[in-house]
Amino acid sequence: MKTDTPRPIHLKDYRPTDYLIDEVHLDVKLVPQQTRVKSVLAIRPNPAVSDPASSLTLDGEQMELTGLALDGQPLARGDYTVDDKSLTIDNVPSGPFTLEIETTCDPDANTSLSGLYRSSGNYCTQCEAEGFRRITYYLDRPDVLARFTTRIEARRSDAPVLLSNGNLVASGPVEGTERHFAIWEDPFPKPSYLFALVGGDLADVDDVFTTASGREVTLRIYVEHGKEDRCDYAMDALKRSMRWDEEVFGREYDLDIFMIVAVSDFNMGAMENKGLNIFNDKYILARPDTATDADYSNIEGIIAHEYFHNWTGNRITCRDWFQLCLKEGLTVFRDQEFSSDMRSRPVKRIGDVKLLRSHQFPEDGGPLSHPVRPNAYIEINNFYTATVYEKGAEVVRMMQTLIGPEAFRKAMDLYFERHDGEAATVEDFVTCMEDASGRSLDQFMLWYTQAGTPELAVAGKFRRSERVFELTVTQMTPPSGGQRKKQPLHIPLEIGLIDADGEALPLKLDGHGALERPVLEITEEEQTFHFTDVPDKPVPSLNRGFSCPVKLTSNLSDDDLLFLMSRDQDPFNRWEACQTYAGKKLLQCVEDASKNQTLRTDEQLAEALDACLADTALEPAFVALMLNLPSENDLAARIGTNVDPWAIHTARSNLMAYLAGVLHDRLIGLYDRLTDNDPYSPAAADAGRRALRNTVLDLLSRIDGPDVASRQFKNASNMTDQMGALNVLGTIDAPERTDALNAFYDANKADHLLVDKWLALNAMAPFPDKIAEIRALTDHAAFSLKTPNKVRALVGTFSIANPVCFNHEDGSGYRFLADTVLALDSLNPQVAARLSSAFKNWRMMEPGRSALAKAEIERIKSRKGLSRDTLEIVTKTLQ
Ligand code: BES
Ligand code: ZN
Repeated sequence: MKTDTPRPIHLKDYRPTDYLIDEVHLDVKLVPQQTRVKSVLAIRPNPAVSDPASSLTLDGEQMELTGLALDGQPLARGDYTVDDKSLTIDNVPSGPFTLEIETTCDPDANTSLSGLYRSSGNYCTQCEAEGFRRITYYLDRPDVLARFTTRIEARRSDAPVLLSNGNLVASGPVEGTERHFAIWEDPFPKPSYLFALVGGDLADVDDVFTTASGREVTLRIYVEHGKEDRCDYAMDALKRSMRWDEEVFGREYDLDIFMIVAVSDFNMGAMENKGLNIFNDKYILARPDTATDADYSNIEGIIAHEYFHNWTGNRITCRDWFQLCLKEGLTVFRDQEFSSDMRSRPVKRIGDVKLLRSHQFPEDGGPLSHPVRPNAYIEINNFYTATVYEKGAEVVRMMQTLIGPEAFRKAMDLYFERHDGEAATVEDFVTCMEDASGRSLDQFMLWYTQAGTPELAVAGKFRRSERVFELTVTQMTPPSGGQRKKQPLHIPLEIGLIDADGEALPLKLDGHGALERPVLEITEEEQTFHFTDVPDKPVPSLNRGFSCPVKLTSNLSDDDLLFLMSRDQDPFNRWEACQTYAGKKLLQCVEDASKNQTLRTDEQLAEALDACLADTALEPAFVALMLNLPSENDLAARIGTNVDPWAIHTARSNLMAYLAGVLHDRLIGLYDRLTDNDPYSPAAADAGRRALRNTVLDLLSRIDGPDVASRQFKNASNMTDQMGALNVLGTIDAPERTDALNAFYDANKADHLLVDKWLALNAMAPFPDKIAEIRALTDHAAFSLKTPNKVRALVGTFSIANPVCFNHEDGSGYRFLADTVLALDSLNPQVAARLSSAFKNWRMMEPGRSALAKAEIERIKSRKGLSRDTLEIVTKTLQ
């Protein structure tokens, strides 16, 4: 049990290490409860440090030290000290030396899934951010880059497959035993967080990729036996990612083999270990009858993301963990671009913005708010956040918008050239953007250091006599955390002006002439732009493509919004206008609901959506997004204070039912027309058709009840349509719901990924009187606290996607979450901490609920021996 209060680490305290490690030889004997690790380190004083300390402290925890020698001489008891976090050797030579360390660890007892652990009997590792120190004593920080050679030994029957980073250089039996070995050599120096090791009984699927320069690369995906037929899409996505990075960023793969291992117990989505990515198997395995379109697109995006890290993260890594956005934000930007090129760009952009709004904006406006580059952390694992990832990607995108695509590509080339093989900083990256474009990004740097979502207010005014359209923009970032007064940011605001016929007007700025690109640069608290030669009152289309991650308000009227919804050339802003308009109307409905008044409806919204449904020029996936009104969580965030989740639920359900009624005939026609009998293909166009059909099904069922959905459930020939039906049935309190859920479980109980879907469906049931049933599933044979995917499917889904139950007025939803966090915390602190962040909105609830939530957060916080991870989150949540 830890009793000391954890101390925060500060960016300003960064110092290079006194010693560097050039070479690591690991020798790992895999044994379930007592794995033995021998490590031989070639160490030397860091020439960049003028006066290195005479002692050397290595990180290490949850291990047994069994041997220690320096330059071949065993060290005596008095020469070193060991505590529960480190090993210190008192006097080390002033020149290069060799350190030999022997330790043991217990992979079977490792439920935290950080370090070396076992998943379904297979050994695997997770070292980012600080897991390597649970495998051996080491300078476990990203600015120490070493070449690794890894020898692995295990009983052949337990672990016929032995893998590590790089190339296989030797393998064979250990004579006279039942054991065998493999030796892997990684020629690229890397930080310890990119180390990986796998040992187990796995099947593999192979392919090859020929790089642009003609080198042949072996591609190999390892999965549980029997799942070989679920790897095709992941493999295809990998090959497309490799080609795309060559074509779009000029980046080739650099080893002769690229391996992916899929495991079923994993804290995160996937990990970019050099040459040996390890994946949560839900992001690898897919077959039409087991995976939905959303699963396929996640697989594509995550395969790409981890592959792209090979250059942005591995070849150029981070100097310290404060620079996490340098690899994560940039790599998310890259995977977003990849998916945009593979699929529909506007549809992808809308999806990304929805994610940003639903996860990052609330984070940035709540107690866990922090800058894209934080200044301090207690537990780094708590900083793999929507802000670092999603806002981090937006920041890269904004630089591209500001300097233009050609300069951006030049800057990326420069970054790869200048920093290859290094551990870099955000400043290094931004300097490349400046050098390639000749523009200063001094003010822009504030995006990395200042937290909070900026608020832009835009007012347009037409002066007919002068033919001038005047646009006044003011910016303000609300205070957050330790930052009270915020500076104005450098913001790229892409816009268009549209005339009454829907035609785009040329953008001529007074004093500047025609704009080269349709981007206004906002740098001050208030700025006015004068557009000249405007013949008639235009409608401005603001923040096209969501060029900046801000909350924008404007003086656009309802008519302007309806006009933009049908006429904007920018598809993103057609969707945005719909969200703004529908959001506004929904908020009025919520007010009606909380006053127990008749809920109002909106004919104009129905008409606009009807036109959208009738417009055959629009992509089905886009129409589906138009029909998806702002979610209950969205509306809660817009209301911001004194939130009553039940009023929101009632208001939204009512408006949806109204729309379904008005659009009924068209919806029926569309549902039939979108039914296709072709074999399933995961391609974006087909997925889009299914998305629209399932959205139509949702609307129809609000009028017609469960029959159509029940039929679709029974007749579905792929998992997307089956889940589409179940998602609808799951919200209808009728026998059809129970029948379908039971049938689904019975048919799929042997498939752990489908059982996760079943748990999530149960967790989403919006019936406040049935919370006990959801909670009872923690005792179901299908559930396990030790498997993060199960916890996320049941408790994560409950606390994020079921607002009416999670926020039940009797507090039972909060209690369920708190009890789960407390039960999980000692097993897996990382996942417990993440789960507890679902409390972050407690303050915006109405007083009764927020008091109940607060009491539960305090109950977690007061638990003795609570992990540093969870303690940091709940402490901040209460501040
Ligand atoms: N490097 C991360 C995985 C990671 C995160 C390891 C936190 C240790 C702690 C990986 O590249 C990543 O970002 N994975 C994401 C998915 C990605 C598509 C955004 C994840 O696991 O959620
Ligand atoms: Zn990543």
